[in-house]
Amino acid sequence: RIASVTGRQLWDSRGRPTVEAEVTLESGAVGRAIAPAGASRGAHEAIDLRDGGTAFGGFGVNGAVAGIGAEIAGAIAGMDARDQAAVDKALCDLDGTLNKARLGANAVVAVSMAVLHAAASDAREPLWRYLAGGKAVRIPLPEIQIFGGGAHAGRRTDVQDFMVMCPNAGSFRRALEITGDVYRAAGRLMEAKGPLSGVADEGGWWPNFASNEDALDTLTQAIEASGHRAGEDVFISLDIAANEFGDASGYRLALDDRRLSGEDMAARIVEWAGRYPILSIEDPAGQDDWATMAAVTAAIGERVQIIGDDVLVTDAARVARAGEAAVCNAALIKVNQVGTVTEAKAALDAAAQRGWGTIVSARSGESEDVTIAHLATGWNAGQLKVGSFTRSERMAKWNEMLRIEEAMGVGAEYAGFSAFAATIG
Ligand code: PGA
Ligand code: ZN
Repeated sequence: RIASVTGRQLWDSRGRPTVEAEVTLESGAVGRAIAPAGASRGAHEAIDLRDGGTAFGGFGVNGAVAGIGAEIAGAIAGMDARDQAAVDKALCDLDGTLNKARLGANAVVAVSMAVLHAAASDAREPLWRYLAGGKAVRIPLPEIQIFGGGAHAGRRTDVQDFMVMCPNAGSFRRALEITGDVYRAAGRLMEAKGPLSGVADEGGWWPNFASNEDALDTLTQAIEASGHRAGEDVFISLDIAANEFGDASGYRLALDDRRLSGEDMAARIVEWAGRYPILSIEDPAGQDDWATMAAVTAAIGERVQIIGDDVLVTDAARVARAGEAAVCNAALIKVNQVGTVTEAKAALDAAAQRGWGTIVSARSGESEDVTIAHLATGWNAGQLKVGSFTRSERMAKWNEMLRIEEAMGVGAEYAGFSAFAATIG
């Protein structure tokens, strides 16, 4: 049973305040979790509680932290930490809004995940194993950023994430080794192109490119230059995050200084998928432009994974509606997008039931918290998206996956192509 719940302010990877929750059970078991924070957020996401004003650029979390120690602690003290659904329902009821705006999704998600950690600790099991509950689970396929653009890099490119995936690597360990080779080769190519301008929010190279296509060409060259085969050992995965530069009324590509209709946008994406070794594309259209999403999925969804992030916001009801409209064939799962572990799992289940791929994802603002590595494994999600191959808030998750893979031992099964909807691969 939950004995105490406390909150504290820590700092995230962008140097902004964030919330940590600490839950202690009567048995003495302790669970802790730190809330992440997005920058390219969807309008339908749960909302963080920030203090506003001038201190810390308005990003202060004193109100969120105070809510944990007072109201939240009062509401869930005495509850059974193993009954995550009941705890999360109590959190939702206490908040009372549809988007966690009153207590703050940052406070709620930290408490929800801390309760989960406490329960696993009480069961003396690693979190991934506690979540798997005796069922066989696969090691997720990593999706790793090489260049970061969009809202994470001063909108230097329209596309937000240029990533790689290695479904044929056979193991997580090998996938990281190959990705490291590509990351270094990409850095050498960037240097040759002109002054390197550092790294984007998630640690990928800051794109120093004339066009989105230039970035795609460079990434393809980097894969080849790394000694691995593009379209065989290494595939490209894009998060267009199109919500950041358009909607159903049109898309403004800053690099090309052009305005595209939804149809033109879909055609552009389909053209890229034919020209480059692309295996996965996230948010090719704005959050409410389901027609363009569906057009892309109809055109290439049989062979390319089309992921909904801002269009789904980890909401089981939206996953169901998006399924009816065939807008995508995979769901990005971010616990803080909806606010609780139970609601995120429901969204994942709704997607998996449709035969979709599922990807547990970090946010652009992160910390040393490695909960998502355990969720991706224990929930058998098949895929894990964390950002780049530098910076310790990213590497902490990849490194935790190496520990999990080692703990699983010889029986560890790397998801590979089984992570995608059935026709892909
Ligand atoms: P965010 O971006 O965390 O800044 O929202 C991540 C993503 O779009 O997948
Ligand atoms: Zn996204």
